[in-house]
Amino acid sequence: MSEHDIPWWTPQVGQNEYANLRDVLESNYLNDGDVTTQFEQEIAKLVGATYAVGVTNGTSALFLALAALGIGHGDEVVVPDLTFIATANAVTLTGATPVLVDIDPATLTISPEAFEKAITADTRAVIPVHISGRSADLPAIVAIAKEHGLAVVEDAAEAFASFHDGRALGTIGIAGCLSFSPNKTIMTGQGGMVLTDDEGLHLRLRELKDQGRPVRGTGGDDPHPSVGFNFKLTNLHSAIGLGQLEYLTERLARQKRTYAQYARGLAGAPGVRLPGFDIDSGEVPLWVDAIVERRQELDRLLGDRRMHCRRFWAPLHTQPPYRCSDEEFPGSIWAAPRALWLPSAFTLSDTDVDAVIGAVREFVDLRNGT
Ligand SMILES: Cc1ncc(COP(=O)(O)O)c(C=O)c1O
Repeated sequence: MSEHDIPWWTPQVGQNEYANLRDVLESNYLNDGDVTTQFEQEIAKLVGATYAVGVTNGTSALFLALAALGIGHGDEVVVPDLTFIATANAVTLTGATPVLVDIDPATLTISPEAFEKAITADTRAVIPVHISGRSADLPAIVAIAKEHGLAVVEDAAEAFASFHDGRALGTIGIAGCLSFSPNKTIMTGQGGMVLTDDEGLHLRLRELKDQGRPVRGTGGDDPHPSVGFNFKLTNLHSAIGLGQLEYLTERLARQKRTYAQYARGLAGAPGVRLPGFDIDSGEVPLWVDAIVERRQELDRLLGDRRMHCRRFWAPLHTQPPYRCSDEEFPGSIWAAPRALWLPSAFTLSDTDVDAVIGAVREFVDLRNGT
């Protein structure tokens, strides 16, 4: 039994954020302004993107990226069946149809073969999702998309500062979308960003996030050449984000270390498999995911010991708005009920992680009668 709660995740704020917030409050400019511009520039620099556009959250980032690409009614966008529902909802809200496809149960990311099979004359884009910070098979997906003239919009909500082969996830497709919600390495309460290297798309994103206004003047007589939304990221949120960035290196190191400890400690445990991360290539596990037999039982046992896990989402095709037959989804049907995020907070100590490993091993041994 753990002596204290071992959280699945916990956000943390420090003195930096208080000081930055005070500065914004004293400036009396709380709206999307210079502080957000600075946050955008720092994020762009960290990931090596030409442009970063701050928005209200990861869902609006996805929606905005698709809308800025001109995707809407009559279009289809390919989405993996195993992701947070925001990925599909962002498509639906543009008026386009999300076309769900199966995942590869080995990586929990979109199956390139299933993506290719789903392409029709109406397909405009694909959204690979980098689950838990693990790269989807981008070389294959980008090649297929290129062959068919489709846009790749990366859902990098769980993959900020995770790299693959020297490139940050979220900077490989035409657009990449980040989330700064509280269960992310860097959080702003709510917040998101769209990354792109495309100048035209960048300008479109800027006007779409602000009522179709490319340039902000005094507000009253600004020209609004197109219809847009209000997805502005306030200076208050960005002040928190900038404060959080000062802990980034330390947090990323902790997340890699936690994963390595789990990988060592659970190696060879029967009925437990970590899909793993390519750490040498620059991937950073946001959360440590595991595929386990008898997931509910294990989750309950760990919960009783105050070790908190998080169960994976149900496949999207089983949710009412997207319901369809199981037939096309053997991968997600198999993986979703077995997938579990182990305690992954960057606040965990080595002792905490060892305690979880010990409890998982105890469960496995008991189940196998050893
Ligand atoms: C894969 C994925 N996509 C999209 C989102 C949506 O981001 P937000 O909650 O910031 O809207 C999340 C949220 O965590 C996510 O995990």
